[in-house]
Amino acid sequence: MCGIIGYTGRRNASEIIYQGLKRLEYRGYDSSGAAYLADGKLSVVKKEGKVEKLLPLLKDVKSSLGIGHTRWATHGVPSDTNSHPHRSGNIAVVHNGIIENYAELKGKLISDNYKFVSDTDSEVVAHLLNKNYSGNLLEAMQKTVKMLKGSYALIAICDSENRIIAARYKSPLILGYGSGENYLASDEPALAGLCETISILQDGDIAEVSSESIKIYDENLTPVSREVFPNLAVCCDLGLDNCPHYMLKELREVPDSVRFTERAFEGIRQKLSAILSDVNRAVFVGCGTAYHAAMIGKRYAESFARIPCEAETGGEFRYKQPVIDGRTAVFAISQSGETADTVEAARLALSLGAKVVAVTNSHHSELTRIAHVVVPVAAGPEICVAATKSYTGQVAALYLTANLLAKRQPEKLDKVYDLCKKTVAELNIGSLAQVCAKARGVYFLGRDLDYAVAVEGSLKLKEVSYVPGEGYPSGELKHGTLALIDEETVSVFIICDDLLADKSVNAVEQVRSRGGKTAVFTNVDRVIEKLRSETPYVFELPRCDKYLSPLLSAIAVQKLAYQTAVALGRDPDKPRNLAKSVTVE
Ligand code: F6R
Repeated sequence: MCGIIGYTGRRNASEIIYQGLKRLEYRGYDSSGAAYLADGKLSVVKKEGKVEKLLPLLKDVKSSLGIGHTRWATHGVPSDTNSHPHRSGNIAVVHNGIIENYAELKGKLISDNYKFVSDTDSEVVAHLLNKNYSGNLLEAMQKTVKMLKGSYALIAICDSENRIIAARYKSPLILGYGSGENYLASDEPALAGLCETISILQDGDIAEVSSESIKIYDENLTPVSREVFPNLAVCCDLGLDNCPHYMLKELREVPDSVRFTERAFEGIRQKLSAILSDVNRAVFVGCGTAYHAAMIGKRYAESFARIPCEAETGGEFRYKQPVIDGRTAVFAISQSGETADTVEAARLALSLGAKVVAVTNSHHSELTRIAHVVVPVAAGPEICVAATKSYTGQVAALYLTANLLAKRQPEKLDKVYDLCKKTVAELNIGSLAQVCAKARGVYFLGRDLDYAVAVEGSLKLKEVSYVPGEGYPSGELKHGTLALIDEETVSVFIICDDLLADKSVNAVEQVRSRGGKTAVFTNVDRVIEKLRSETPYVFELPRCDKYLSPLLSAIAVQKLAYQTAVALGRDPDKPRNLAKSVTVE
């Protein structure tokens, strides 16, 4: 991944570019650069290292038009010369993607006497633009992209034209509409707070952006129109906000994810209600954490609407010949909206005639494009690979959706918002994290909704701390897993359902009597009274409606995972072997 941005308008382009690059830094941070026009002259500045290294080079620049790039190296080591923009004569370009045929193109350009200074694939684009330029950058871009194989989001400028030319194929690029100013960027967060509306370039589109207008063309330069959307990106700082890790910062944003998701829901209430009007069955699909949210969505819809429901992982659903018809709603849940298995599951559901509802934090992703309706998760950008606030946003969105499906009045979420804040601020589980860090295995146990949170807690802990374990229904313990329990294991119970509490307490006793360590997250008074004298790790959660308790117990298990990872010296933001968005099968 790399992040790219462009701006032209009445403000100082260098400031907008710098701030935009800071916001895009999570897409890559090994080097950055900018190109701008000042007094009709094209200048390029670039630097290896984090975006802040660019500041001294940009701080005195006054310009009304510029482009920028923050890099995650694919071809060529991180260095000043390999940084973008790449320049050829009077043209500069930034690129996100991979030019697969660059070696062949480079050979031809070298035989035409073009001199290469970098080891990147992207430099060929600069020279091709130069070669194809005969007084019109738009036409040069059209000719150039015809020669490229691979993926690209490109933004280019030229010293003799007061406009920015862009092109997209398989790498994201959005346009932002201002007044007397316009923007381009890899994603919405880069434009948060800057413009009210955006549109998304589609594969093959070429765009011409000046301060006064944005024009979009297809590959033949025939004008095309693209839908204009409100810019939903929450105006937020993508910095660490004085936290040592994004995981902690994003955990602290859990309450806002609930609150903003409730607000955003109002915008789709009517459309969703119409689409769900004759639904008599529901399937909830997602992968990883999103699948665990699907488990909760299933329970909500069953309990509130009393219709048959299923929860499936995307990878299973798409190959199991699902029984679906036009009265089935399929809820495809995904933070990124790009997860291949979830997107393919949604496509399969569409082909079988189902009503497909995307539940996503990414408002202009593939999933949003194919679904009949989108239930927005308004968690804001999530940088940490491990999902935290997007999960609670998904749970809030599913709670509201299931209530709508049942034509039932949901609880207002402002009360649980306060309780989330309290849990984030006050729940102190440092001592338990130390114990989990030394454990051979950590088991998460619960029943019903508590079980759904237990599997999420287990995934989170494994993912960021690498401590093995499992999420399990506490009633199932005695049917096999109990054999694993000894003094080197910790069993973490979630007990937030008053009706099932005594059954779960029995399971706590079963573990204790086999010498296993136990910990309990609960908001049931009699559980606290009974267990407090028996185990040092009883953590009290605020009382709330049982259906909303997953929002609070999720914070508890996320905190435990985070603190265990930190205790073990892991980087919770970038767990080994993983990536944030899994676009392969
Ligand atoms: C775990 C985690 C993953 C994702 C999964 C699906 O913390 O983040 O399990 O939930 O890869 O990703 P999305 O939600 O983008 O479809």
